[in-house]
Parts: sequence; structure tokens; C-alpha cells
Amino acid sequence: MTDTLILSQRYDGVLLLTLNRPDKLNALNFALTQALVNALEAADADDGVRAIVVTGAGRGFCAGADTREFAELTPANKILVDQRAALTTELQGLGKRLRKPLIAAVNGYAMGGGAGLALSCDLVLASPEARFAYPEVKHGIVAAIVMAGLVEHLGRKQAFELVATGRTVQADEAQRLGMVNRIVAADILLEEALQLAASLAAHPIKAMQATKAIFHEVAELPFSEGLKRGQDLNARMRAFRSEQPA
Ligand code: COA
Repeated sequence: MTDTLILSQRYDGVLLLTLNRPDKLNALNFALTQALVNALEAADADDGVRAIVVTGAGRGFCAGADTREFAELTPANKILVDQRAALTTELQGLGKRLRKPLIAAVNGYAMGGGAGLALSCDLVLASPEARFAYPEVKHGIVAAIVMAGLVEHLGRKQAFELVATGRTVQADEAQRLGMVNRIVAADILLEEALQLAASLAAHPIKAMQATKAIFHEVAELPFSEGLKRGQDLNARMRAFRSEQPA
């Protein structure tokens, strides 16, 4: 079951992971969330994988948390509630911790945790049919774990509007808001994402991985500290070209 929840295809150094619950718009139930975390961690540990693309099977990218599991996520089931929160937190924080670049190919609905998953990727390509929303407040809950990623990517006014209204954003607005790098026609979305991934996979691996690592490190630091980390890396990177083949 777990194996089929995530479809996995290799194209040289690129791994394509496809969320595979199309009849539920790839909503993240416990099993799919765990399977995705496992697949991403395995990809990161696999030296043959140099870039990763995540997409959704069918007409959805990911409809967020599986609302059918909400019935059992009650204060009376504290252990389950805590496990679920920890797993979701792990997934939402994983993108920037992976050593390899991670690209989202958003082919349809990206709701709640699905929008968070897209934003947690290093790059986001979206089809014109992509839709982004944080509708948690409409369910009487809070876009809690996805909040950090949202606030990190959008201006505060725009971010607050999304979580306070729960309104759905179309692909072109999502691009204007900074949630999407490129809009690509649905029939070539995957091909374009795989090509972009292949171009990143073709870079010398130490340089690519250090670029990703320092990018996310610096993003969280005050300017002067970020500048210092850059200075340190600048000295270390001089060894990269002689340390290993491209
Ligand atoms: N959890 C569980 N199942 C979900 C789901 C979710 N988050 N989102 C969609 N599904 C299921 C639907 O129940 C339906 O299953 P069914 O055919 O067995 O009834 C199937 O996926 C298709 O969804 P449907 O609502 O019929 O498609 P639509 O095109 O009319 O609407 C959405 C698409 C995304 C607008 C709508 O499904 C939706 O609002 N989903 C909830 C998204 C959400 O609130 N996510 C955050 C949760 S905190």
C-alpha cells in the first residue's frame, strides 16, 4: 500500500515522486504523509539522485490534510494528535533540509498542507489550472504548521489575507505573490519540471548542494551573519573543484 501511495520514476540523476491518491486529490492522510517523508529521505540518501521533482497524480497536486482523519484527531487522542503534528511538521520542514534541489510541479489544487508542500520546495512550476489556498479557518482549525512557510514566502499582508479568508488563488496570482516561479501549460508541465531538474542535476554536485544549503541558512540569518557565512563558504568552496569530479 505504502509503495503505491508514492510513485517513483528515475530519469538519470532526477527522481520523480508522484503523490498517488488521485481519487482524493492526493490529500495527505497519515499513510501518504509518511510515505512521502520516507521517499524524500531515501532520495536524499541516494547518491544517484541529484534533483527531485514532486507532483500529484490526476487533477490535484495535493488537497492538504485528509479531512476524513479529523474525526479521530481529538484532545482525547493526544498521542495520535501529537504524532500527526510531528509528521506534518517533518514534511513541511523537509524540503529545505534535503541536500538536493526539490521542484514542485503543481498540476492542480494545492490546498492547506498541499500549498505548504509546494512552498517547501526550492522551485515551483505550476500549470494554469493550479489553485492555491489555506482554507483551514473554514474548517474551524488553523493553518498552523504551514504558517511559517507562508509567512516566509509572502508579504505579511498577503499572507494574512490568505489564512484569514481561506480564499483560493489562481496560478497567475500565485506567481505574482511569489509562490510560483513559472506557469507552464499542463501538457508540458512535467517535462519542463524534469528538464529543469536535469539542468540542476548536471551542475557539479558539491557546488549545487552547498548553494542550496547556504541559501536556506542565509535566509534565516540577519544580513551581517549571512554575509559572514558566505565569507566562510567562499574560502571552503575553493577546494570544491579539485575535491571531486563534476
Ligand atoms: N481530505 C480528504 N478528502 C478530500 C480532500 C481532503 N482534504 N480534498 C478532496 N477530497 C476528496 C473529496 O472528498 C472527494 O472524494 P469523494 O469523491 O470520495 O467524495 C474527492 O477528493 C474529490 O474532491 P471534490 O470535492 O469532489 O472535488 P472538487 O473539484 O469539487 O473540489 C476542492 C476540489 C479542492 C475545492 C475540494 O475538494 C476541497 O475543498 N477539498 C478540501 C481542501 C481542504 O480544505 N484542505 C485543507 C484541509 S485542512
